[in-house]
Amino acid sequence: MKNKINKRKKNLWAGRFSETPSEIMSDLNASIGFDKKLYEADIKASIHHAEMLANQNIIKKSESKKIKDGLLKVREEIKNNKMIFKNDLEDIHTHIEARLIEIIGSTGKKLHTARSRNDQVATATKIWAREECKNINNLLKKLQKALLDKATLHINDIMPGFTHLQPAQPVLLAHHLLAYVNMFGRDRESYFSLSRHNLSPLGSAALAGTNYNINREETANKMGFEGIMRNSLDAVSDRDFVLDILNLCSLIFIHLSRLSEEIIIWSSPGFNFVTLSDKYSTGSSIMPQKKNPDAAELIRGKSGRIIGNYVALFTVMKGLPLAYSKDMQEDKEPLFDSIETTKSCLNAMIGMIETIKFIPKEMKLMCSIGFLTATDMADWFVKELNMNFRDSHKLTGKIVKIAEEKGLSLEKLSLKDLKKINPKISKNLLAAISLERSINSKTSIGGTAPLNVKKEILLAKEKWLK
Ligand code: ARG
Repeated sequence: MKNKINKRKKNLWAGRFSETPSEIMSDLNASIGFDKKLYEADIKASIHHAEMLANQNIIKKSESKKIKDGLLKVREEIKNNKMIFKNDLEDIHTHIEARLIEIIGSTGKKLHTARSRNDQVATATKIWAREECKNINNLLKKLQKALLDKATLHINDIMPGFTHLQPAQPVLLAHHLLAYVNMFGRDRESYFSLSRHNLSPLGSAALAGTNYNINREETANKMGFEGIMRNSLDAVSDRDFVLDILNLCSLIFIHLSRLSEEIIIWSSPGFNFVTLSDKYSTGSSIMPQKKNPDAAELIRGKSGRIIGNYVALFTVMKGLPLAYSKDMQEDKEPLFDSIETTKSCLNAMIGMIETIKFIPKEMKLMCSIGFLTATDMADWFVKELNMNFRDSHKLTGKIVKIAEEKGLSLEKLSLKDLKKINPKISKNLLAAISLERSINSKTSIGGTAPLNVKKEILLAKEKWLK
């Protein structure tokens, strides 16, 4: 049996009104279309609120029990899609309360003692967001694991490193992948720092606090908050926690989008560094040969919308006077969308990384283009011929020019030709500019030398996967 909520005529606040809202107003005002998601969090908070009211002798224990049982019934109804939602009842908070009153009668009308929808919505949104952010943190961890597994597998494979997307210096593929492990690590640290928002707004009521002798610590504690917000005006006006989450999602997306861009480049036949699993690719309706990296492109594309969500709510919040204004209802769609999209794209990226096949042979082959070890040559002149770096840079530039004219790579130049440029050059120079020597020499902390990278993999596993 569907409930009777749709027969209701009056809004819960309709006492001082002689007319009902126009349909246009009702539709504009309604958030039920999207804030249904908050139902579990709202009911959890309401149960603890009612229990606290009873413990403080504001309502009777039997009334609190009746309210709790009624709320659990409402929760079952919503869970089983039995609840009828309608715009006249505005939002999830009002729906739940109205339905509670229908089920248990006038005792249900006591639930809203010593609270307002203003502290109620802030509380429910915080509880919901807290749980969802935990899921995001777990997905970030899973992505780090997928990247670390690939890094371990490819610990000896060399690829060209780029700046300006021009060949720059050789690096280990594992080193490149670890860069992303670090990025997603910073995202997780941002997640950890969200704990400073884990303070309860409940009990701030509309804006000024309440006349009842409530126990805010009790409800905060039971709802898993670490404490209470200590200014009622701030508590009902604060959406910093949502802004921080939107910022976190935006940063995650910048990292996901850059990784996607690389996957797109690497999978293009001009590079051919990777083969993407069919599971994360699609074909063309006309060109039978095509295999497109759509998952990566969609992640890159969705980053626009996530940054849009961030900009949207920052713009909404910037000029609002204290305390609550209805503008703040605009926090929900960006928050819900950013969280859902972040979870789905993290899952897609995890799948892509787990199934991607790197092609080390092709990566190494491309290392022969673009004089990747020219800097190692310049360093050799500094170390072995005692030159200053500026002069050695110039000299190496001349050698690169000669190699380019002859169509040769640096190490294919003859010793005879090199000696013409500087007679002190020995064959040791040619050994010093091999790919392997170049990589092995990058021993500075954070550099790409294999010993460093192996150590960083261990440290990262220790730090992020425990
Ligand atoms: N649905 C509203 C929101 O999300 C709840 C708060 C309503 N408060 C009010 N004073 N009308 O912001």
